[in-house]
Amino acid sequence: MHWWIIFLAMGSALAIPRSCDLVRVRTTMVANCQAQDHLVVPEIMPSTEVLLLSFNRISKVTEFSFPSVCSIQKLALGMQLTMALDVGDRAFSRVSNITFLDLGGNRNLMLHDNAFSGLSKLEVLLLDVNGLGDTVLQKGYFRDLLSLKKLDLTGNAIQRVRPDASFHFLRMLQFIHLKLNKIDAICGDDLQNLRGLNISLLDLSSNRLSYRELRKNQTECPNPFYNISIDTLDISSNPWNVEGAENFFMTISGTQVRHVQMQHSGGIGSSFGFKNIRDVSAATFSGLNESNVVSLDLSKGFISGLSPRVFSALDQLESLNLALNKINRLSKEAFTGLRSLQMLNLSNNLLGEIYSDSFEGLQSSPLTYLDLKSNHIGAIQHNAFNNLISLQALDLRDNSLTAIPSAQLPGLKHVFLGENRIRDTYGIRSFSGGATLIDLAYNRLQDLGEFWQILAIPSLQYLLLSHNWISRCSSRPQGLTPGDNNLLLLDLSDNSLGAVWRSGSCVNIFHNLRKLMSLNLAQNRLSTLPEDLFLGLSSLQKLDLSRNMLTFLHEQLLQGLTSLKTLRLNENSFATLSPAAWSQLPSLRFLDLKDTTFICHCGLLDLATWLKTTNVTLIIPKEEVTCLLPPSSLWGLPLLAYTETACPRNE
Ligand SMILES: *[C@@H]1O[C@H](CO)[C@@H](O)[C@H](O)[C@H]1NC(C)=O
Ligand SMILES: *[C@@H]1O[C@H](CO)[C@@H](O)[C@H](O)[C@H]1NC(C)=O
Ligand SMILES: *[C@@H]1O[C@H](CO)[C@@H](O)[C@H](O)[C@H]1NC(C)=O
Ligand SMILES: *[C@@H]1O[C@H](CO)[C@@H](O)[C@H](O)[C@H]1NC(C)=O
Ligand SMILES: *[C@@H]1O[C@H](CO)[C@@H](O)[C@H](O)[C@H]1NC(C)=O
Ligand SMILES: *[C@@H]1O[C@H](CO)[C@@H](O)[C@H](O)[C@H]1NC(C)=O
Ligand SMILES: *[C@@H]1O[C@H](CO)[C@@H](O)[C@H](O)[C@H]1NC(C)=O
Repeated sequence: MHWWIIFLAMGSALAIPRSCDLVRVRTTMVANCQAQDHLVVPEIMPSTEVLLLSFNRISKVTEFSFPSVCSIQKLALGMQLTMALDVGDRAFSRVSNITFLDLGGNRNLMLHDNAFSGLSKLEVLLLDVNGLGDTVLQKGYFRDLLSLKKLDLTGNAIQRVRPDASFHFLRMLQFIHLKLNKIDAICGDDLQNLRGLNISLLDLSSNRLSYRELRKNQTECPNPFYNISIDTLDISSNPWNVEGAENFFMTISGTQVRHVQMQHSGGIGSSFGFKNIRDVSAATFSGLNESNVVSLDLSKGFISGLSPRVFSALDQLESLNLALNKINRLSKEAFTGLRSLQMLNLSNNLLGEIYSDSFEGLQSSPLTYLDLKSNHIGAIQHNAFNNLISLQALDLRDNSLTAIPSAQLPGLKHVFLGENRIRDTYGIRSFSGGATLIDLAYNRLQDLGEFWQILAIPSLQYLLLSHNWISRCSSRPQGLTPGDNNLLLLDLSDNSLGAVWRSGSCVNIFHNLRKLMSLNLAQNRLSTLPEDLFLGLSSLQKLDLSRNMLTFLHEQLLQGLTSLKTLRLNENSFATLSPAAWSQLPSLRFLDLKDTTFICHCGLLDLATWLKTTNVTLIIPKEEVTCLLPPSSLWGLPLLAYTETACPRNE
């Protein structure tokens, strides 16, 4: 091919660069020049403070690339669509006041030894996915970056982490991202130039750390974190096994680490049914016994059983996440020694039963949150939780419970029992007599009358009963709802309350709920509502009657709802509807009539007039309120247009 053909072909592929869009974000001037086919740094206003140049075709930056007068503070040069980006000698000397520099995503980054010289104010340097090897940390590139706080080297090809002596002066360094590299070990004086630092985050996730071959006695691999403390150490997604993890924790023994993230460790735990692979034991974490770890995340692994005292070295631990493992048994003393534990997450495991000794080890700890969601728990032994006197939240959603657990947790505030197969609420009051929130949604409750039993818990504020089978109501023998109730929110959506009230029972169920602010009765096969149903709900702000079969509303029904702000009537099929039902409500602000159908007739004239003049906000434009002309019409007519033409006013 002749050179001029190539030239022409390139010319057509490269559009003419557009000029940058200048925008002011709060008080900052931002020049957005992204994805504009620039081959060099374009001209910009001298007042530009943020210059976004990612996704262009710049292949070289030199000390003359930037305008000689400029006040740029943040510069993004990521993802140039070129074979390589060459960052030359003192490339940023004209923008030496920058605090943020993004060079990420330039897969083939070539750095001059002095590329970053003079950037003494730089706080954030992004060098992710730049095809960089070990030398990036070893050639003094960063020696001038005395303000550097965050260095992102994610997704490179680094194998050995040995920051050179210039790091000794980077005393602000806090965030070191080394995720997705090829690091297989860090030992001894590898990090000697980071000594004395308190690192907020050291991210070593998705590397090749295994420490399987190393001995535990520190002669082969002395502690690399000597005189370094770490707030969060992320060693997730590495090829750990139980021995390797044990060796690693022994290696770093004594180092102060507040949070250890070790998710996605497929080799940790014996999984389900593999007897020849070691599961975690007390030895696994013993090396951490002087590290004062406060949180440990072992989620998304293959731990299958918890042996006695497995976490006993972690007596400062406040939060333990074991979610998404294969845990199917908890030995009697599994949690012994966790005397500071506040949060235990065992969700998404394979637990089938909870025994009275399952949590025995936690009786003197301040455990406030226990997450057992999404297991297969069908049986809970009597008194299984009784030792947990500090417990405030217990999540048992998505299990196989058929009844309220027969335990007593008077301190419990938040009770999550949704998504089980619970048929009645027998025992709820002795189980959680101090609850403020009870979630019983998605169960098999049938009797609305149990509501009165639940309300015998005077502290209750939020009650979720949606998606049950409630279709009958056994009346309360003593009459009314207790007046000292504190209920604020009641969700009864997706039941069959239409059947309850058609039979004439429990029409006084909501009386005395003086504090109730939100009542949801959506999707309940309601065709009519008893006239006095909402009597006395003077605090009610939100009423949802959507997705029912309502054909009309009693004009008296909503009277007295003096606080009502939002009324949802959407997805009903009214034969007629008079605004008199709500037009006297002083607080009404929102009315939802979306997908509500009406039969076209002149009785709707009042509604049409109201729609035209009201200052209540409709969720859909008033022009979209339609009516149907039976029997033929498939599409509704705009209600306003219909009444205007079909219903002459006789004045
Ligand atoms: C950096 O900031 C200082 C003081 O704010 C100023 O004197 C200097 O000219 C700036 N340098 C550049 C290259 O903009
Ligand atoms: C930790 O490192 C700092 C900085 O290098 C040094 O000043 C200090 O003496 C060291 N402390 C110990 C206990 O080695
Ligand atoms: C660094 O952490 C150590 C141990 O956690 C602590 O004693 C020291 O005060 C911290 N230093 C700074 C500068 O935060
Ligand atoms: C420690 O490791 C060294 C070298 O790997 C080995 O020779 C020595 O026996 C070990 N010492 C102990 C006490 O295990
Ligand atoms: C931690 O474990 C080591 C070795 O078993 C032991 O010598 C040390 O006393 C323990 N430290 C604490 C605080 O229990
Ligand atoms: C428990 O862990 C899972 C998975 O990490 C998480 O989605 C859930 O929010 C955690 N539970 C709590 C109460 O934090
Ligand atoms: C709506 O209009 C009524 C009178 O028509 C008035 O009393 C009320 O304050 C108005 N509300 C709002 C929010 O403007």
